[in-house]
Amino acid sequence: MKEQIENYIDKNLSGEMKRTALAFVDYLKKNGLTFYRDTCDCWKEKIYYWVKFGEECVCFIAIKDPDEPENFWTVWSDECAAYESETVGDDVKVVGWSHVDFCGNCGSCGGGREKVIFGRRFPGVCGCTFRIDNAVETDLPFLKEMADLRIKELMNNNVIEHYDRLIDENNDPVRDSQPLREYMDKWDGQEFIDEMELDKAKSVLEVGVGTGRLAVRVAPLCGKFCGIDISPKTVEKAKENLAVYKNATLVCGDFLNFRFDRSFDVIYSSLTFMHIKDKRGAVNKIARLLNYGGRFILSLDKNKSEFIDTDTSRIKIYPDDPDTLEEYIKAAGLTALRRYETEHAFIIVSAKH
Ligand SMILES: C[S@@+](CC[C@H](N)C(=O)[O-])C[C@H]1O[C@@H](n2cnc3c(N)ncnc32)[C@H](O)[C@@H]1O
Repeated sequence: MKEQIENYIDKNLSGEMKRTALAFVDYLKKNGLTFYRDTCDCWKEKIYYWVKFGEECVCFIAIKDPDEPENFWTVWSDECAAYESETVGDDVKVVGWSHVDFCGNCGSCGGGREKVIFGRRFPGVCGCTFRIDNAVETDLPFLKEMADLRIKELMNNNVIEHYDRLIDENNDPVRDSQPLREYMDKWDGQEFIDEMELDKAKSVLEVGVGTGRLAVRVAPLCGKFCGIDISPKTVEKAKENLAVYKNATLVCGDFLNFRFDRSFDVIYSSLTFMHIKDKRGAVNKIARLLNYGGRFILSLDKNKSEFIDTDTSRIKIYPDDPDTLEEYIKAAGLTALRRYETEHAFIIVSAKH
């Protein structure tokens, strides 16, 4: 039987290091990552794993490398733009900075380069960014965060590719036929828009605006409209569709990371939360962005499948449970006003008092 990484850890590590390595591997496996043992010439005598999300690498793990007798186990990160971000906790930053992988002139990255890591600039950093030798329990929160940031980046890339491709394939719900538009209304529709209680004094944000299916109905009824979407091609299409509404701004970015310079009277989202893994984080951010007296109208797809499949792509999604979302909404300090169902969605209406 093929040896698993846990067996190698069991045989070669002990005490706190063994517990940490097993806990990290368990965490990675629970996040759907796969372990690929590298048997190329350079590594075949060693225990060296590529830890992958789909076809992409999240990190690399070596156990008891005979060339480094002082190291029992080592983790290297892969390249990840999110390691630049300052938004991680201070504890994680400090541990991360202590594990920056400076160039050891191995020849693979041409001498290292300057990188911003958790908001601080470092010279001569290896392609990998982080190298953690002999990690113990205090390193575990950092290791998990390092993996999470990379997984999130890869998941976002998948979502971006999926929705960019739909635009390339000429999908634009704003241009759908009347029967198709009526079908899409089964996730939201006029009642959903009425719940926003719009007037010309109100500022509105749509999370996951798409090409503007709902936005073209909302923008003419409000003061200022802002739509955010993670897919650049989708945002370009939304800009075309909303060009006549001078009060509309469309921005491209991940809602969870984007820094808004203003707050809103109404925030709504439809057919988007299934893409968001950190639903509590998204709800908390929405609550922070809402003005007092503001309303949050959320449509949750009833579909429970964990993937969206099209002829050309398959992406992982995170189905929603309305009870859990209502809990997050209340915990974020919003008041749940109403919950109702359409044919394909649960709608939760809440307000900030
Ligand atoms: C199924 S479409 C729905 C679009 C629109 N709300 C509608 O109902 O027609 C989901 C949209 O959410 C966007 N999206 C997914 N994750 C996002 C994120 N983290 N931040 C911003 N937009 C996101 C996608 O790019 C996509 O355009």
